[in-house]
Amino acid sequence: MRTDTVDHPLAATLLSTMRDARSDNATFRNALRDLTGILIYEALRDAPVVRAPIDTPVAVTEGVRLAAPPLLVPVLRAGLGMVYAAADLVPQARVGFVGIARDEQTHEPVPYLESLPEDLTGLPVFVLDPMLATGGSMLYTLELLAARRATDITAVCVVSAPEGVAALADSGLPVRLITAAVDEELNENAYIVPGLGDAGDRQFGPR
Ligand code: PRP
Ligand code: URA
Repeated sequence: MRTDTVDHPLAATLLSTMRDARSDNATFRNALRDLTGILIYEALRDAPVVRAPIDTPVAVTEGVRLAAPPLLVPVLRAGLGMVYAAADLVPQARVGFVGIARDEQTHEPVPYLESLPEDLTGLPVFVLDPMLATGGSMLYTLELLAARRATDITAVCVVSAPEGVAALADSGLPVRLITAAVDEELNENAYIVPGLGDAGDRQFGPR
């Protein structure tokens, strides 16, 4: 599986703001929004484009547009903080939703919402979730997408654990990963270390 870890000073400063336990909900959300823009920029680096003539106020020149704008799929709750930043950069993108809450004891994904187009044949899909920990939530989402015939999937995650990266690689599913950091490990509660805590709670407050 291809993993791209974004290496840029701006990404690093935004990630530092998100990691900092002193950042309040609004500061955390703003940093996540801005970092998502950088991750989406990288995720689209090799995207095919269609070229066509456009008129500037002065002359005719060649313009470009994305050949296939991706379907954006935020994983609720935490992925909500990424979807508007992504949609602002790709205004033609459609948006689907998956809702999953990890069981705090077993760490298994517990799905509660699915709102996706039936047929994803030929459509690139960007799954938006700030955290890739055990990989259970992402794998569940990837299986939903693969069952709808998606074959070009990008997981866009702010912080990833080595365990989650390995789970995606071992799955054999058609996915690549764009992330701002691959951290050290998971702790006994399956939280990413050093990580940034609970990405849903840090945006929206505790449940
Ligand atoms: C977090 C996160 C991922 C998941 C990652 O969501 O946003 O979806 O945990 O963990 P995993 O890789 O071990 O599955 P959580 O279940 O806490 O729900 P929330 O977004 O509603 O806070
Ligand atoms: N979910 C989170 O929000 N944070 C973690 O570190 C692991 C799972």
